[in-house]
Amino acid sequence: MDLYLIHRPRGDFKGSWKMMEELYKEGKIKAIGISNFTPAQYKDLMSVAKIKPAVNQIETHAFFHEMDSYNDLKKNGVQMEAWAPFAEGRNGLFTNQTLADIGKKHNKTNAQVSLRWHYQRGVVAIPRTVQKAHMVENLNIFDFKLSPAEMKAIAALDLNTSQFPEWT
Ligand SMILES: NC(=O)c1ccc[n+]([C@@H]2O[C@H](COP(=O)([O-])OP(=O)(O)OC[C@H]3O[C@@H](n4cnc5c(N)ncnc54)[C@H](OP(=O)(O)O)[C@@H]3O)[C@@H](O)[C@H]2O)c1
Repeated sequence: MDLYLIHRPRGDFKGSWKMMEELYKEGKIKAIGISNFTPAQYKDLMSVAKIKPAVNQIETHAFFHEMDSYNDLKKNGVQMEAWAPFAEGRNGLFTNQTLADIGKKHNKTNAQVSLRWHYQRGVVAIPRTVQKAHMVENLNIFDFKLSPAEMKAIAALDLNTSQFPEWT
């Protein structure tokens, strides 16, 4: 297995981590990581962990920048990975005017501007699509660059709250 994650820090997640460390040492899993851990929960895990998580997969998109986690993961050298990198289209992400204005300058869609923003922040995004055209579109983000002013405009979209309150 390439990468195995603890989905949420519930139950005996420290025990789970110890087992995952064993599987990692045995070479059965190439990388182990976590998901939906806050900085405090990450710190708690690290009080027993021998191996640092490769990634922490958390909700992150143009409307939720997760700056506390972003800074904490960067400081600790853990890769931040975005689930719902498009907020699953919530809050009108695919028609958002700020993203559309930026996209117009580069001849790109809101989806592509979003993914390029993740990429320039150093965040790994795992967009989901069942459409081939969208897969092609989502891969086509390496021929343009967002300017500092455009990154700043997207920074202003941060609502600092989840788009999925039903899951918290
Ligand atoms: N760790 C966790 O707790 C957690 C929680 C939720 C999700 N995830 C994972 O995160 C990954 C990301 O998926 P997600 O479901 O969260 O949402 P997402 O990637 O933010 O959004 C998926 C939606 O975007 C649409 N889409 C994709 N590309 C598009 C494009 N270029 N233009 C317009 N629409 C586009 C898709 O529709 P089409 O199919 O029609 O393109 C789909 O409805 C998944 O692998 C999922 O398993 C993890």
